[in-house]
Amino acid sequence: MAKSKPTENSVTAAPAAEGRVTARAGHEDDRRLDLALRPRALAEFIGQERTKKILGMSIKAARGRAEVLDHVLFAGPPGLGKTSLAHIIARELGVNVHVTSGPAIERAADLAAIVNNLEAHDVLFIDEIHRLQRVVEERLYSAMEDFEFHIVVGEGMGARTMKLSVNPFTLVGATTRSGLLSSPLRDRFGQHYHLDFYDHAELGEIVRRSAGLLKVAIDEKGATEIASRSRGTPRIANRLLRRVRDFAQVNEAPVVTREIALGALELLEIDSAGFDKMDRAILGAIIDKFDGGPVGVESLSAAVGEESDTIEEVYEPYLLQEGFLARTSRGRVATQRAYTHLGRVRRGTML
Ligand SMILES: Nc1ncnc2c1ncn2[C@@H]1O[C@H](COP(=O)(O)OP(=O)(O)O)[C@@H](O)[C@H]1O
Ligand SMILES: [Mg+2]
Repeated sequence: MAKSKPTENSVTAAPAAEGRVTARAGHEDDRRLDLALRPRALAEFIGQERTKKILGMSIKAARGRAEVLDHVLFAGPPGLGKTSLAHIIARELGVNVHVTSGPAIERAADLAAIVNNLEAHDVLFIDEIHRLQRVVEERLYSAMEDFEFHIVVGEGMGARTMKLSVNPFTLVGATTRSGLLSSPLRDRFGQHYHLDFYDHAELGEIVRRSAGLLKVAIDEKGATEIASRSRGTPRIANRLLRRVRDFAQVNEAPVVTREIALGALELLEIDSAGFDKMDRAILGAIIDKFDGGPVGVESLSAAVGEESDTIEEVYEPYLLQEGFLARTSRGRVATQRAYTHLGRVRRGTML
């Protein structure tokens, strides 16, 4: 597996990978920012200590034995570092990374072409792996397990299966919806990691690191303010930092202080909990239109004008983790915390 120059190949053109996130965020600029600020080594990757420790150990062990690394599955909300870790794994193994996504692999033949191109011990990164077509997913099983790809030749009675052997490779899968992954696929990953939201201290470190790379002067309190309003998410922290930088520049502030950060965040309508307009719309709708809930995600989607998938993948996880929202079998309910945060009084409460 010793190769002199590992490369990054984009197997498929469609960068559907970050679709959801950019839907929330904006645009191409965010993708460029992600690339520029992406940590390149485990040592540069802040937080997720347990994941880093176990992953680092298994990479080292695989290298030491000159064996292929077990397949890795990353699950967690958008912007927490799944794609960064996939690239880091390849880099630390010293192999190529081939990047694609579930929706981009349309037919079994597309997958055959991809796996056939892998060199020994390469990393194949499939983002949004829960969105693989069933027929494609089934072909992936033997490729993952035995490094064999089964091709059906001919049709009807004359159809036969040919086995194509492929180089041993490591599949790195990422998903924002681990619940939608079939169990046969899930079971074929030797390592599962769930990425958690980051705490304020970790986000503060990320903001300072990014500020350094972007050459933005920022003081401790400025970084803390951005960190505490980033919804536990590095991608959002970086995005806010960039907006704050613009604000500082326009206001001719040489250093991003707490006041500058607050000024920019207010303009962006990011509140003290780090919620944006859509977060508040979701909580507000549950309280005002559905009497606090329970309400199903489809009704909520219609009420706020946002896709139900986006509500589930992008907005809900943080609202749930922070205790503003609760999920019951009959739907979502707003918690007391949500009422307090939005300054609403719960009706019908006996005092
Ligand atoms: N642990 C981390 N340390 C530093 N920066 C991070 C970390 N995790 C994510 N980031 C930043 O956030 C951006 C988004 O991360 P990414 O790996 O694309 O997330 P995901 O694939 O989970 O949506 C990265 O480009 C990087 O700038
Ligand atoms: Mg990603």
